This record gives sequence, C-alpha cells and structure tokens, in this order.
Amino acid sequence: MATVEQQFEWHSGKNRSAGVPDAIEFIDVYKSFGSNKVLQGLNMGLPEGMISMILGPSGTGKSVCIKHIVGLLYPDSGDVVVHGQSVPSLSDAELFEFRRQFGVLFQDGALFGSLNLYDNVAFPLRQHTEKGEEEIAEIVNRRLREVGLGDAGQKMPNELSGGMRKRAGFARALVLDPQIVLFDEPDSGLDPVRTALLCELIKEIHAENGGTYVVITHDIMSARRVAEYIAVLWRGRIVEAGLAQDLFDSENPFVKQFLSGESAGPLGME
Ligand SMILES: Nc1ncnc2c1ncn2[C@@H]1O[C@H](COP(=O)(O)OP(=O)(O)OP(=O)(O)O)[C@@H](O)[C@H]1O
Ligand SMILES: [Mg+2]
Repeated sequence: MATVEQQFEWHSGKNRSAGVPDAIEFIDVYKSFGSNKVLQGLNMGLPEGMISMILGPSGTGKSVCIKHIVGLLYPDSGDVVVHGQSVPSLSDAELFEFRRQFGVLFQDGALFGSLNLYDNVAFPLRQHTEKGEEEIAEIVNRRLREVGLGDAGQKMPNELSGGMRKRAGFARALVLDPQIVLFDEPDSGLDPVRTALLCELIKEIHAENGGTYVVITHDIMSARRVAEYIAVLWRGRIVEAGLAQDLFDSENPFVKQFLSGESAGPLGME
C-alpha cells in the first residue's frame, strides 16, 4: 500500500480558477464505499457557462462525482455546492425542484426501451411541466432536428445505433432548457468518426444555448476538441485543473502522460 506521500505525489495543488465564478464546487469531499476510499479530500470548481471536462483513469470516481452533483449520493464529509446551494442539505422536496436545472446524459443514453424516441424526449416535459401537447411537439421536434434525428421520432430505441441513442439522450437532456448539462462519457462505445461528430454537436449546442456543461470522458481527442476547462482526477483528488490550454501545456508528469495517452509515466496498470 502506497504511503500518503506516494499516493498523492503527482497532485500538484494547481487548481486554477477559470476567472469566472464556479457553478459547481466540491469542498474537501470524502466518500468511501466500505473500505474503498473513492473521494479523498476532493476540491474542484467547475466554472459557470463553460464546457468543463473531468478526465481520469477508470474507477477513479468520475461517475461518483456526477451523482454527488445531482444529489444521488451524499459525501461522508465535505460539501457539494451548486449555484451557492449545498446539495447534501436539501430536503427531498427541495431536491426535486433542484434537479430541474440539470440535463443529465448517463453513460448508456438510458432511454426508456418501451417508448419511441419522440415519447422519450417528451417525457421530462410531460413529467415536469404543464405544457400542452402542441407546445411539447414543437419543443421535441426542434430538439430532435438539432441532433439530426428529425425523422426518427417514431423509432424505438432498439432500432437505433449507439450513436443515435446518444444523440437522442442528448436531445432529452436538453428539453427543459437546463442551466447545467452533465454528460457521463458521451463518447463511450462510439467509433472515432461518430465521437468527433458528437463532440461537434456538443460544442454547437453549447454555443447556441449557453449553460454550464460538465463532460466526463476517457477520450483525449474529445477533450482536445471540446474542453474549455479541464480537471484531472486521480485517487479521489484533483491532480491539476485549469483552462484547457494550461493543462495541455502542463509539465506535470502524470498530466502529460494522461493527456498524451502514453504508456510510459507514473500511471501504471493497477
Ligand atoms: N453505489 C456504489 N456502491 C459501491 N461502490 C461504488 C458505488 N458507486 C461507485 N462505486 C465504486 O467507486 C469507485 C469509482 O466508481 P466510478 O463509477 O465513479 O468510476 P469512474 O471514474 O466513473 O470509472 P469509469 O471511467 O470506468 O466509468 C469504483 O471502485 C466503484 O466500484
Ligand atoms: Mg464512470
């Protein structure tokens, strides 16, 4: 077992602000599952209005972070603050309201298998708003067109390719005009061309709608394409965070290795 110094040897303490207020803050967050220490004093700020990417090796707690942001998991200690509101202190009723400001795209797209695409995308509007079917149709059709699925509304999820399912999940994540959009590995399981197209789509839709985007990925090419702010997570803490260019220029051996995808460096198979 590595000593504390060895374990956090590469954690530079460089956790740079983007120069705008943070929409989301993790403040000294600890989270364990049994003896598995996942978040170990995580301090991370994700800037308002930007596309941030959380990068890190498999199993470091990236998905666990997303679940803390929307109040699906609670820290053992520390705080998670969204737009100045402490998430763990929200009551169930407050949490329901709070979640309306998010669009979330889970790792597998998570469409309802028994609903066609149109009904999948309409679901949050029917669930959370009093809008009539005419207005819903206008919104759903616009969002489906935006992601290139204007003609696919009647298709069932199992008739779609993985890339189409991701795009449909993206359309559904956007229908409530969320202030914050969370993507858990939007690029997993896609070929490089589809990944590139999805990255373009994320950028376009962000440019058009604004809002705070948080994208989790393993894919360095995706990070190069879309990230404005990057936080590199490892062993439950930030190794380094800052504007994308600062991270790509980093001299930190771990960050260099991770962002170049090389096998030589501090990160081994473990
Ligand atoms: N609900 C849970 N109960 C117990 N352990 C959990 C739970 N959720 C996550 N874990 C553990 O927390 C650790 C981090 O998991 P997490 O899913 O956040 O990793 P990740 O960084 O998203 O990995 P990947 O890149 O492979 O998706 C793992 O060891 C996982 O087994
Ligand atoms: Mg994950």
